[in-house]
Amino acid sequence: MSWNLRSTHVADGDLVQLVGLRHKSFIFRVAVGGKMESHRGVILHDDLIGKPWGTKVTSHLGNPFFILQPALGDLLKELPRNTQILYPKEIGFTLVTMGIGEGQRVIEAGTGSGALTCALSFAVGQTGRVFSYEVRPEMQAMAQKNLNRLGLYDRVDFKLRDIAEGFDETEIDALFLDLPNPYDYIGQVKAALKFGGFFGAILPTSNQVTRLILALRQHNFAFIDICEILLRYYKAEPERFRPVDRMVAHTGYLVFARPVLIGQPEDEVTLHAIEGLREETAGNTLQTEIG
Ligand SMILES: C[S@@+](CC[C@H](N)C(=O)[O-])C[C@H]1O[C@@H](n2cnc3c(N)ncnc32)[C@H](O)[C@@H]1O
Repeated sequence: MSWNLRSTHVADGDLVQLVGLRHKSFIFRVAVGGKMESHRGVILHDDLIGKPWGTKVTSHLGNPFFILQPALGDLLKELPRNTQILYPKEIGFTLVTMGIGEGQRVIEAGTGSGALTCALSFAVGQTGRVFSYEVRPEMQAMAQKNLNRLGLYDRVDFKLRDIAEGFDETEIDALFLDLPNPYDYIGQVKAALKFGGFFGAILPTSNQVTRLILALRQHNFAFIDICEILLRYYKAEPERFRPVDRMVAHTGYLVFARPVLIGQPEDEVTLHAIEGLREETAGNTLQTEIG
């Protein structure tokens, strides 16, 4: 069962988030007869079941908590992991940029701890499918556990394979690579992705990005966009409203591109002309008019 964000009251089997003093929070699944134990005291699950979301409860040590429904972002932040994971700031932008939604067929590699797998499978819904490739069994096992915990396991085909061997699927709508050397696999990507589909990757260093640009160009990927997402939080204090003291400076560069069909030699000339013109435009992003 996936978690249910439409309910008004806590029910047996729900994932809940208890948020206490200094925003310390605990996420767990409630079960009749269960209890949540921490250094802030014990809370019986039976005392949560049936309460409206947003209610305050108190542990046996007198510590207060509010009961909230965890959003996907909350779940991803505390996801058990044994790899670097993709963070909500990159995930959110990637989903909308790559048009990921209900019913789509999406490939990702590597699976890692499954943070992106959770988000992709949440976005494609019950009618979509995620094909997730990973070379290391211990990573795949961790991701499977994470997907299972969120009730999203059934939306994913987990494949244990080095993607150098290629992908099983063809005509895929979108494909995302989160591994150190995506530029080595663009041939395999091209064979799996439909023409006009969405390709995305994340890389921590700029020299990896330049290698990826060269590989994408060699394989007739167009409309290459590269960006990074800087996220700054603010103190929610009306009298001294200002940014918080710390900020994550760098996570990675996002690279997006679309494979286009080059049917005639002049198509290639047109593609280079379009790419050349894009370099001259301020910001080098698509200038779109909606008609
Ligand atoms: C940074 S982690 C991916 C994290 C993941 N996106 C997440 O959000 O949890 C990179 C993963 O790629 C896997 N990997 C590296 N090269 C691979 C390859 N050639 N084929 C399949 N998986 C690979 C690694 O084993 C590792 O688990």
